[in-house]
Amino acid sequence: MPFNTEKSAELHKRAYQVIPAGVNSNTRARKPYPYYFRRARGAEVWDVDGNRYLDLIMGNGAVILGHGDSRVQDAVARVLDTGLTIGVEWEGAVEVAEQFLRIVRTMDLVRFSNTGTEAMMHALHVARYATGRVGVAKAEGSYHGWSDEVFVSAWPDVNCLGSLDAPISLAGSAGLHPDAVNSVLVLPFNDIARTRALIEEHAHELAAVIVEPVLIDIGYIPATGEYLRALRQICTKHGIVLIFDELLTGFRLAPGGAQEYYDVVPDLATYGKALANGYPIAALAGCEELMRLTEPGNGPAFVGTFNGHAVSVAAASATLPLLADGSLQRTLAVRTERLRRAFAEAAEPLGIGAQLCGGGGHLQWYFTAVSIRDYRSAATTDARLYATFVAALANCGILVGSNPLSHQAISLAHDEHVLEELELAFHSGLEAVANARSAGQD
Ligand SMILES: Cc1ncc(COP(=O)(O)O)c(C=O)c1O
Repeated sequence: MPFNTEKSAELHKRAYQVIPAGVNSNTRARKPYPYYFRRARGAEVWDVDGNRYLDLIMGNGAVILGHGDSRVQDAVARVLDTGLTIGVEWEGAVEVAEQFLRIVRTMDLVRFSNTGTEAMMHALHVARYATGRVGVAKAEGSYHGWSDEVFVSAWPDVNCLGSLDAPISLAGSAGLHPDAVNSVLVLPFNDIARTRALIEEHAHELAAVIVEPVLIDIGYIPATGEYLRALRQICTKHGIVLIFDELLTGFRLAPGGAQEYYDVVPDLATYGKALANGYPIAALAGCEELMRLTEPGNGPAFVGTFNGHAVSVAAASATLPLLADGSLQRTLAVRTERLRRAFAEAAEPLGIGAQLCGGGGHLQWYFTAVSIRDYRSAATTDARLYATFVAALANCGILVGSNPLSHQAISLAHDEHVLEELELAFHSGLEAVANARSAGQD
């Protein structure tokens, strides 16, 4: 344990009495206990013991400008005493929708909800209503939220995957409706021939194909442009709704997200996270024909007490203009590339077969020499070497995700000084890995 975290230990004992696992999202659980935090600013966070960490989690990629960005905080402060949840439409939401569509020019209309999970549920309702079909196809290893129809084959057990010709649909959690899980067709990411064969075989029952254009929840695994273009072509041919999950690619790969970056336009897309620099808001956007189906009438409902909430809308209204001209994305791309190079240059002389993959400020280390193109290749990462590496990073005061198939993120606040601190920590981490190997512990 690098720091004194006694207060976190005590708080965990208290928390455990009232909250299962002592945390409100299972991904925050840590052995022997999670750290509890009190403050975040820029690229730094402080725990309840007063320890300062350099943050590489950044709200699971949501905080793109840095924690507590004053422009966003000021906008939020201005609405705080105006009466927040009034159950009718907030004027600021109209301006944010206009801002959104000026940036994401490939989409015609947008509607706001609270979480990415909800936005994807709405997208599927629209797809089912529009096509009269039920089934959904998604890539093996992709995460699109925790609802029954999509929490399938997300971080699946590698011993149960089945053949690449017909990957098995595996529930991502206990308690999901088995019919929903079984109605999901799992596709081998980046494998055009097998994906085409599977979709064509099931086309008559498929309402939607969902794809995250870069698999970021399991690290950083870009689709090839050919793969996305093939999906577009197959979906158009069979009248299947193509949905991009842009929760993490949105606003980071390009102002208009992955669809701008790859020049492939889906029928619907979901957004969240960076949209409001970490304030809780998500969006469903799409072509007019499909989006208008969610208007009141006999079509799919689009409802929610907190939809377009004044606080999140205010945060989005201050964030979106900063994401509009592409300069922020260029800065993040340059910084990501610099970190990747620094890691490769430090790993190479030590003979460590590891790679730092990343783009748009998203990053992940894979301790494998295998080229990463899908879930199965990513899962060849050596979990013990990863654990050694991130433990050494923690000793340097870097806050990172402990799951080898997770992702890290930097923000605009990860400036020159921060990058230098990270590069030094990479050296320490790689030395720890090299020592563990020479001590025969690997
Ligand atoms: C790609 C992707 N899609 C969907 C979701 C679900 O979003 P939320 O946690 O807001 O429900 C996430 C969340 O991590 C995500 O990364």
